[in-house]
Amino acid sequence: MKITVIGGTGLIGSQLVSKLRTAGHEVVASSLSTGVDLLTGAGLDQALEGADTVVNVSNSPTFDAASPDFFRTTTGNLLAAGERAGVHHQVILSIVGVDQVPRLDYYRAKTLQEDLLRQGPTAYSIVRATQFFEFMDAVLSWTTDEHTVRLPATRIQPIATPDVVDALADVATAAPRNGTLEVAGPDVFPLDELGRLTLAARKDDRTVVTDEQAGMFAAVDGDVLIAGPDARLAPTRYEDWLQVTG
Ligand SMILES: NC(=O)c1ccc[n+]([C@@H]2O[C@H](COP(=O)([O-])OP(=O)(O)OC[C@H]3O[C@@H](n4cnc5c(N)ncnc54)[C@H](OP(=O)(O)O)[C@@H]3O)[C@@H](O)[C@H]2O)c1
Repeated sequence: MKITVIGGTGLIGSQLVSKLRTAGHEVVASSLSTGVDLLTGAGLDQALEGADTVVNVSNSPTFDAASPDFFRTTTGNLLAAGERAGVHHQVILSIVGVDQVPRLDYYRAKTLQEDLLRQGPTAYSIVRATQFFEFMDAVLSWTTDEHTVRLPATRIQPIATPDVVDALADVATAAPRNGTLEVAGPDVFPLDELGRLTLAARKDDRTVVTDEQAGMFAAVDGDVLIAGPDARLAPTRYEDWLQVTG
């Protein structure tokens, strides 16, 4: 099968490209640095030539009020180019509970991306993942000073990126779902507790202070970031990953 991965140099994209190639698929890895710009459409037609499936794991350069425009323009350009190229299946990577956090610009932007895909001309699949393990580094940097990190007790169910990639590869090489698959890690943690586990494993002596108003996850109500009963649960545990990565 010929598959074009847009965002093929990113955290998820680079792993997905290797996995699909190892499985014997013909893969085109495209991104800004390979000369394909989803915002202008430059290089897109060439990148999609002969592709059966497109997996879009690109990301907006910012998570702020500019992100809806990024996903509106890039999704429109990719769907139009896919139609021109005769692509049969468009796949995107979204976020569990994305439509339940309207106070976050980035989550509204990803919801818009999903809506445009559903309304688009091509059969599709949406993979919604929970927060990546690697995302904790950013979370710990947002609301910190020398001695403390402030985090709310928002419950999340983080996932290892190779487990996200396994699910994406399975979905991309199967028939379009015209629907959504949720993927999530095996364990649920309050974010403040996850921060304490992470800092302890890294021998970082900052203290986590529970603060329900701190950082982007303060905008999350209840358990909306926890996967539903039909989710595919991934095998890798956060504590095991921490021991390996430090
Ligand atoms: N972080 C999380 O916890 C989480 C959870 C669920 C879902 N997701 C979703 O996962 C997806 C992938 O995230 P990631 O962390 O793998 O992203 P990433 O590492 O930041 O990679 C982003 C990719 O997008 C490409 N890109 C950016 N602007 C582009 C443009 N205008 N045209 C073409 N390519 C462009 C980049 O290309 P260059 O490298 O060439 O610049 C890069 O390959 C995102 O859509 C995100 O919403 C994330």
